[in-house]
Amino acid sequence: CGIVGYVGGQSALDVVMAGLKRLEYRGYDSSGVAVLAGGGLAAAKRAGKLVNLEKELAERPLPAGGTGIGHTRWATHGGPTDANAHPHLDGAGRVAVVHNGIIENFAELRAELLAQGRELTSETDSEVVAHLLAESFSGDGDGDGRGDLAEAMRRVCGRLEGAFTLVAVHADVPDVVVGARRNSPLVVGVGEDESFLASDVSAFIAHTRSAIELGQDQVVELRRDSVTVTDFAGAPADVRVYHVDWDASAAEKGGYDHFMLKEIAEQPRAVADTLLGRVDANGMLTLDEVRIAASVLREVDKVVVVGCGTAFHAAMVAKYAVEHWTGLPCETELASEFRYRDPILDGRTLVIAISQSGETMDTLMALRHAREQGAKVLAICNTNGSTIPRESDAVLYTHAGPEVAVASTKAFLTQLVACYLVALYLGQVRGSARGDEVRDAVGELAGISGAVQEVLATMEPVRELARSLADRNTVLFLGRHVGYPVALEGALKLKELAYMHAEGFAAGELKHGPIALVEDGTPVVVVVPPAREQAVLHGKVVSNIQEVRARGARTVVIAEEGDEEVVPYADHLVRVPRTPTLLQPLVTTVPLQVFACELATARGNEVDQPRNLAKSVTVE
Ligand code: G6P
Repeated sequence: CGIVGYVGGQSALDVVMAGLKRLEYRGYDSSGVAVLAGGGLAAAKRAGKLVNLEKELAERPLPAGGTGIGHTRWATHGGPTDANAHPHLDGAGRVAVVHNGIIENFAELRAELLAQGRELTSETDSEVVAHLLAESFSGDGDGDGRGDLAEAMRRVCGRLEGAFTLVAVHADVPDVVVGARRNSPLVVGVGEDESFLASDVSAFIAHTRSAIELGQDQVVELRRDSVTVTDFAGAPADVRVYHVDWDASAAEKGGYDHFMLKEIAEQPRAVADTLLGRVDANGMLTLDEVRIAASVLREVDKVVVVGCGTAFHAAMVAKYAVEHWTGLPCETELASEFRYRDPILDGRTLVIAISQSGETMDTLMALRHAREQGAKVLAICNTNGSTIPRESDAVLYTHAGPEVAVASTKAFLTQLVACYLVALYLGQVRGSARGDEVRDAVGELAGISGAVQEVLATMEPVRELARSLADRNTVLFLGRHVGYPVALEGALKLKELAYMHAEGFAAGELKHGPIALVEDGTPVVVVVPPAREQAVLHGKVVSNIQEVRARGARTVVIAEEGDEEVVPYADHLVRVPRTPTLLQPLVTTVPLQVFACELATARGNEVDQPRNLAKSVTVE
């Protein structure tokens, strides 16, 4: 979910609505706002996208005021209805609360409120907070936050279990907004005689670039001219104001129809930026930011890579790179699965947690679990100062820039680059990768930006093909070795964007079941490894293409330039530049992104905000 709060001289409604637009990627199944004006509180909320709320506000405008909060939701408790949308009010309509996360003991708290005769109008865990806050503020019930909204919030937080980020206003204190943070992020924007609060800086970047990142379990009281941060017990917290070094234009579409198209096009730059400053004059790696001592890295005897969704596919590729360059055993696992078994970890295990947003709760829980077992955690992340890097022992940032489209593209490519860098660096530090090997690989990586550019320049036939498949129901993807995660990623993109039945398989597994899915005309996309380096593997994949074709498949073959062996079996041939096997996902993924994006457009889907999804999923 996305949260915004404002207090200052502008129209709070305008500021909050503009902020919500920027945060819509965090969830878009309902939204709402509350404004303090004329001694009272006015709120509006609507199921569906933000435009529904805009329409509602156009029909029934709210009174103008300088203090307000807003929310764009990704439903957890209760479906995406008007009633369940945020903000939630207390019974008297004096308090409004927006919330991101899950309050685990809400059933108990709800029962308690109902027993007191309070009326709850929604099915959400958030509504109980509005009631508790009202109670505490008035000095009733359990709290003595009488007249002090920040104190009331601290007292309420003390009673809540689970993950929550809350922002609230009270009509009795019209010049105050309070926020509380546990787990999902909350950032303060410090303006001139105005203050902002939001899930991320993009919501207020048009107004100020001075920001304060709230820490875990902190409460903030926001006034026009002051920002006061404490812990949940009320002790003042250290506050560090930082300067945000990107501007609003970086978060705009820049002439493209969709953010996703812009982000696909930005990949050459993103890949190059992720290498920047990480290679020394001798072509060796200098990852100073990985603040895990070389002596500790030398002692590592196992690597575990975790992530979710697209980041998990990057993790799968990382396994090949880690094994290849370090000779260490490497496991890859979905963060959500890893957390709930009994993984064997100790002080010699290095866990790599991959996350674009740095907020994915499944990944966060996995890394916490790993650290509890004594493992060292290295995050690969795209969002500065987000929770996952903050809680890790070290972080390697991907420099993809802000990614807005829900389906990840440029962040994925930079995650791959970061995985190669980490694997190579481990090899370099441990002496398992020779100097010339490191230099060669770094040189190859430096050439990838240009190779991606070449792929992008030849995508028209892929778009045409996508349009011709718009009425199909199923597309299969096959790959082996690092081509396997690419096949999974191609299928995921198609599911996310085109809402099609799409499956990725290890090509060798085909004969053990999936081949039964192939019918006359079924499109099957095959990622082919380089023939030069991997002759045996290449031969096997070429056989797999023949196998599906013999059963009627329409084959779409992604193969490197000069690979003539595939030509007779390819109904559609997509060429990619020659690249070493390990690095090939950096070029073979790109046509699959373009393919999914075009298919989604052809099917009339919303490319940047696919149904049921959210960019950053801060619940488990
Ligand atoms: C969500 C998004 C996916 C993304 C996954 C992991 O499910 O819809 O596109 O791959 O989260 O996100 P992260 O920010 O941790 O990389």
